[in-house]
This record gives sequence, C-alpha cells and structure tokens, in this order.
Amino acid sequence: MKILVTGGAGYIASHTNLELLNAGYEVIAVDNFSNSCMESIRRVETLTGKKIKFYEADIVDRDALRTIFEKEKIDSVIHFAGLKAVGESCSIPLKYFHNNLTGTINLLELMQEFDVKNLVFSSSATVYGEPKTVPVTEDFPLSATNPYGRTKLIIEEMLRDLYASDSTWNIAILRYFNPIGAHESGEIGEDPNGIPNNLVPYVAKVAAGVLEQIQVFGDDYDTPDGTGVRDYIHVVDLALGHIKAIEKLQQNPGLVTYNLGTGVGYSVFEVIKNYEKACNKELPYRVTPRRPGDIAITYADSTKAYEELGWKAERGIEKMCEDSYRWQSKNPKGYQIK
Ligand code: NAD
Ligand code: UFG
Repeated sequence: MKILVTGGAGYIASHTNLELLNAGYEVIAVDNFSNSCMESIRRVETLTGKKIKFYEADIVDRDALRTIFEKEKIDSVIHFAGLKAVGESCSIPLKYFHNNLTGTINLLELMQEFDVKNLVFSSSATVYGEPKTVPVTEDFPLSATNPYGRTKLIIEEMLRDLYASDSTWNIAILRYFNPIGAHESGEIGEDPNGIPNNLVPYVAKVAAGVLEQIQVFGDDYDTPDGTGVRDYIHVVDLALGHIKAIEKLQQNPGLVTYNLGTGVGYSVFEVIKNYEKACNKELPYRVTPRRPGDIAITYADSTKAYEELGWKAERGIEKMCEDSYRWQSKNPKGYQIK
C-alpha cells in the first residue's frame, strides 16, 4: 500500500516513515525543505534498508503536487506539511495562513480529483486553547490563541465540512500533545533551525554545552511546583499512532478524532530533573517571566485512541530524555547539511 507523506522530511514524519517502512508500507514523501533536509530521508533508508520515493516540492504549488498524484497510485495520505512556530506565526500570520491553508486546500482538491479519500491529519492540542479542566477529552470546546493554532482549527473545520458533504472520505484527525525524544538509534531526531523555541530541544542544547542556561518561563502558575505542565509524548509512540490510524482508515470509519498523549503531565522542573538524569550532569537554569500566550497546564485523556485504535503510549519521560540526549550527543550539529 502506498502512503503519501507530506512534510515527509520533518521531525515527526521521519519517525513515522521509519515505522511505515518497517510495517511494509511504501512511502512516497514530499517536502520543500523549509524546515528540514534530505539527510533525514537518507537516514531512514539506511535504518530500514528500504527506499523512500522522494519528491522535492512545495504543496502550495499545485502543479508540482499534481505531478505526484499523476505518477503514483496513492492509497492514503498523512499530512504533516506545515509551518509550526507559534511565535513566528504571530509576527508573520499571512505566511502561516498561505502555507498551511493553501497547501492543505491544494492537497484535498487533488485527493478528491484522484479519488484518494483516506487522510491522516496532524492536528495539535493547541486546538483546545486554554482547557478549563484536565485531562482533555476530544469533545472539549475548541478555540485558537495564535495564528498557528488557528490554521489547525480552520483545517479541522474544513475537514469536518468536507466529510459532511461527502461521507466516502475517511479522515483521522490526530491531536498531538508535546512530541519529544528521538529514535533510539540516535540517527534521527528533531533538528530545529537556530535557537529552539520548545523546552526539550532547548534543554538538549544546554546539556550539550551549546547554550548556556535554560530559561524557565514562569514559576508562579497554579501548578504543583509553579511551572507549566504538559503531556510530553515520545515521538516513536506518536509515529506508531499514525500506523494505527492508517489501519483504522481501512475499516471506513468516516471522520474520527483522537488525542495522542500519555495522559501524564510533567512540569518544566520535572523535565529538567529527568534530563539531568539522562545526561548525568546538572543543568543550569533561571526563572524568567512567563512567555506570553502560554497556558498553565494541559494533558490528554487518550482513552478513545486506546479503545478505537488499540494505541497507547509505552515510553516514559526517562526514555524520552535518554533518546533526546543520545540524538543530541551523536549529532551536535543536527543533520548538518541544510
Ligand atoms: P517539522 O517542521 O519538522 O515538519 C514539517 C515539514 O513540513 C518540514 O519538513 C517542512 O519542510 C515541511 N513543509 C512545510 N511547509 C511545506 C510546504 N508548503 N510544502 C512541502 N513541505 C512543507 O515539524 P514536525 O514537528 O514534524 O510537525 C509535523 C506536523 O505536526 C506539523 O503539521 C505540525 O504543525 C504538527 N504538530 C507538531 C507538534 C510539535 O510539537 N512538533 C505538535 C502538534 C502538531
Ligand atoms: N518552556 C520553558 N522554557 C523554554 C521553552 C518552554 O520554560 O525555553 C515551558 C513553557 O512555558 C511550557 C513548557 O515549557 O510550560 C512547554 O513549552 P514548549 O514550547 O515545549 O511547548 P508548548 O506546550 O508551548 O507548545 C507545543 C508546540 C505547539 C503545540 C503544543 C501542543 O510548540 O505548537 O505543543 O501540541 F501546539
């Protein structure tokens, strides 16, 4: 079975490609390298001993995307391609709307035209805005607090409207919580451009001595130790969730939505402590003011994914930190070739 993976050279896609290939799927990947490079594709090929059919193209370029649909007999699509930096989305919102929304509309129109109606979409816990209670279930109210989050919410709504108009589509909306970690080989992982925005990639660079000190964004939240609490999920568990979602689409489920998280929340201080254990050194930090737009606490109720997909996160925070540190240590400059 042929799976088209958009944003196929990115962080979550590279781990998903590896699991897809290991499970016997054929992977057709497309990426414009706006936040990635070819090296992740090569490394997945080396790790699996299998080939990925790769197209360098921008999904906003409809003709380029059409060529792929013309050449390949695609069965299902996993749609990762998108810009994802929350802060940047506030300064250049139109770029985010253009890239994420136009790219998705092109993809959906071509899928419709070529009668490829199985889709897994990368959504985010960000669509819950600031949840009133935790854990968060899929039926919680949805809202957006920044342009990036709004692109996810708009795409989700487009997908619900599309399904309402044509029930022959099968769509799995996956709402990821906070993916971290790396494949345990240390060969693939997250390779952010410049100074990382997210906690664990930043901590990894402090552990490696590349950055001096962790900044803890606020210790006066209404949480047990005052720092923000999130549901960190190992990227390999997340990748395996996509395999389950692809399998589910074969049963013609219609439109389904799942939270992918562990169900456990960790504070910033707890993440730092676990990372210190993984790298076996003390990590310097200082508490700074809260980051605008951050919420105090969120974590998932992923019962629905367990009951309907048979999926559950297996890897704990220690493993997430160990694997992150292995990737960082083996690849101090990331994939190097940008
Ligand atoms: P990533 O940046 O590593 O991967 C996205 C990939 O899409 C990149 O390789 C990028 O070059 C590519 N891309 C972007 N725009 C494109 C375009 N127009 N045409 C072709 N390729 C394009 O990010 P990731 O962390 O792997 O995230 C994958 C998806 O999951 C994204 O949609 C993201 O919004 C979503 N998501 C990520 C997180 C997270 O914390 N990492 C959380 C929730 C949801
Ligand atoms: N934090 C710090 N210092 C840092 C970075 C983050 O203290 O240098 C704190 C934040 O305040 C927050 C926690 O660490 O309490 C996690 O922050 P991240 O930036 O790692 O992750 P977020 O929860 O803010 O957001 C991430 C993605 C979003 C996505 C969301 C839910 O960046 O795109 O998870 O999936 F929407």
